Amino acid sequence: MTDCYGVMGHPIAHSKSPYIHARFAAQTDQDLGYRAIHVEPGNFQSAVREFEAALGRGLNITLPFKQEAWELVSHRSDRAEQAGAVNTISFDDGVRGDNTDGIGLVRDLVDNCAATITGKRVLMIGAGGAARGALGALLGEGPGSMVIANRTFSRARELATLFREHGTLEARPFDALKGLSFDLLINATSASLSGQVPPIPDGVISERGTCYDMMYASQPTAFVRWARKQGAANAVDGLGMLVEQAAESFYIWRSIRPRTQPVLSALRAEISG
Ligand code: ATR
Repeated sequence: MTDCYGVMGHPIAHSKSPYIHARFAAQTDQDLGYRAIHVEPGNFQSAVREFEAALGRGLNITLPFKQEAWELVSHRSDRAEQAGAVNTISFDDGVRGDNTDGIGLVRDLVDNCAATITGKRVLMIGAGGAARGALGALLGEGPGSMVIANRTFSRARELATLFREHGTLEARPFDALKGLSFDLLINATSASLSGQVPPIPDGVISERGTCYDMMYASQPTAFVRWARKQGAANAVDGLGMLVEQAAESFYIWRSIRPRTQPVLSALRAEISG
């Protein structure tokens, strides 16, 4: 019998996850189906229960349900616990919740973008759900120093407090970044969605620095364009993170690691159209 998987979100029509998982399944010869499932806010719990009752094997969860998924599951992995959000559910001896976003970001940076995190000066912009989901994995790589900046400074301070046991994380308002220099700058804000760039002072990216936008689009995002103007050696969007987090979910469900490079190249060609 074909195993059933899916992704739940609102909206969901433009999700790339069915495309990615179909290619992973073909590549690894796995007999599975994967579909996008639209869920109205307020109906998330019943939608998950329905999927489970129909013997579905696993779900990806995307906006706006990741926190609700965290509350719903009966077991949480350490990284889901830390992230405060669940993006991967397995129906396997209970309802198990994991979070693959952080590891997806780290794998894309290190494996696909040839960036180094260990020992480097890292700046994260943003202090919402996306930032929280990524911090544990980033700190786990042992950066030399890590700063978090956010428009609403109190949220950056709260995250720095939350992660204090996992490494050194210093919260700063944007204007207190002036004069500092970073090897890696990660944009975890949603500003690119509205074509905006957070008010990051000029000159904070070191000469050989990498800028990474966790958002992606068919064209370079506002942040990627800004980073190029700032002279960043490397300016990339988050499409690779999307593929890498999917690969980790696939591994959780199937115990097989798909190759991500060919899927990322095909997806890039597809979205650039
Ligand atoms: P998500 O779950 O996608 O992270 P969120 O919790 O709403 O969504 O957080 C959005 C993040 O993007 C926040 O850090 C937000 O800053 P505030 O905490 O000050 O609201 C940030 N953000 C969104 N638009 C921004 C903009 N135009 N400039 C700077 N930061 C922005």
